[in-house]
Amino acid sequence: TNFNRRFYTTESPFSSPTIRSLLLTNKKTDTSVTVHGWVRSVRKQKQISFVNINDGSCVKGLQAILNPEQAEKLNTGTCVELKGTLVNSPGKEQGKELQVNSINVLGECDGTFPMQKKRHSFEYLRTINHLRARGNAGGALLRVRHAARQGLQDYFAKNEFTQIDTPILTSHDCEGGGEVFKIQSGKKNHSPSSKPEEFFHQSTYLTVSGQLHAEMFASALSRVYTFGPVFRAEESLTSRHLAEFWMLEAEIAFIDLNNLLDITEQSIKHTIRHVLDTCPEEMEFFNQFVGKKDHEKNPLLLKRLQKTMDQGFIRMTYDDAIQMLQQAEQKSLKKLFQFPTTYGSSLQSEHERYLTSEACQDQPVFVTNYPSHQKPFYMRENDQESTVACFDLLVPGIGELVGGSMREEREKVLENKMKLAGMDIEEYDWYLELRKYGSAPHGGYGIGFERLMLMLTGFENVREVVPVPRWVGHCKY
Ligand code: 4AD
Repeated sequence: TNFNRRFYTTESPFSSPTIRSLLLTNKKTDTSVTVHGWVRSVRKQKQISFVNINDGSCVKGLQAILNPEQAEKLNTGTCVELKGTLVNSPGKEQGKELQVNSINVLGECDGTFPMQKKRHSFEYLRTINHLRARGNAGGALLRVRHAARQGLQDYFAKNEFTQIDTPILTSHDCEGGGEVFKIQSGKKNHSPSSKPEEFFHQSTYLTVSGQLHAEMFASALSRVYTFGPVFRAEESLTSRHLAEFWMLEAEIAFIDLNNLLDITEQSIKHTIRHVLDTCPEEMEFFNQFVGKKDHEKNPLLLKRLQKTMDQGFIRMTYDDAIQMLQQAEQKSLKKLFQFPTTYGSSLQSEHERYLTSEACQDQPVFVTNYPSHQKPFYMRENDQESTVACFDLLVPGIGELVGGSMREEREKVLENKMKLAGMDIEEYDWYLELRKYGSAPHGGYGIGFERLMLMLTGFENVREVVPVPRWVGHCKY
């Protein structure tokens, strides 16, 4: 037979280097290179044309110098292959540029391309989500998101965790909030006796949290985490809520609540460090970006992140928090809060905002030991109190970033709590068995990944920090 056999090669399998690597590495100038990418801007002069080209690997892109005939067909958005010589650019801060010898237009683009070289509003960009990543903010966001994921995973790998893939289809509503999406098979022609959801012979939902499954594996491997999409049918039209979002959930045996707060704090600080170290260009871009909008000459994002890393997160009990809010109310001359601050009432966004910004000077704050009745069935009851060993991590400008707790590890206590919550004990027999056979003290937490992205980038709406957002009324693409 005569087939074309290619031998394995250790040379780069790509037909061109990324622009990022060309700009960053000490590749000798005056060498011939091939570059691929999309035209971001074209500036035509009489003798020469300047074209900024970007392949999405960096913010700045590469300046290419062409003659006017070569640039004739180029518009913002055109996809090109350029061959030329990499030279030191005469401008002081420019670094390198490409003296183009030949140009091959791979994909033409006319003047109707909806992303022109100007700042578009986020609302507008969301209507062209399929092109959003071609802009600086959209591209930088995806690279920082990638780095944040790596930072988290790096923390858990360094601390000997095993990553577990928990299922997306589940038979339970972990949080008990009733905000589950019920699934049904799309199969047509069901026999009249079978209901569409009976594919699994029982009701099935999209997962709201991987926690109960993570507990399954923490009861065997001690330190585990899961990172995946979760789904909540919350009709909240806020800048903090998505219907599909990503959650990092860690579950750890042989710890107490203080250990849990330490692990949470360390994993977040490690991730910030990793992102700052691996994405300096993107983070400087976001710094300016946030700065330009709100604080013309005084960008705050990097300062804020540095402060978060340098200081310990504040820790207070729910009890302390309530007292703090009540004192603030007493001192204030005008009405401070709309919602009550009596012991036992839920902390509302306005209270969380006060705690992080006014009371704790813009530092993240752990609020621990909430009243039992406010929290899900699985949380560990504190002895002699009607509180549970749990925490919320509140972050300035964002609100709740992390929720976590010690888990009720005493079989009988757990069973009673489940009965009180009106749960089907048979459905959760496996969860109770984890307590029957060698129950270990354990706890865990879940970081809302999009809210972490708000903290890292300075964006104000979670719809901006997920590649393809889904929220109530919106599931395009
Ligand atoms: O506080 P939650 O509901 O906790 C759990 O699901 C636990 N089972 C986690 C665990 O202990 N393993 O959610 C955790 C975090 C919140 O703090 C918030 O950051 C984020 O998930 N979150 C959302 N993010 C975007 N859109 C929504 N609708 C969200 N709901 C919660």
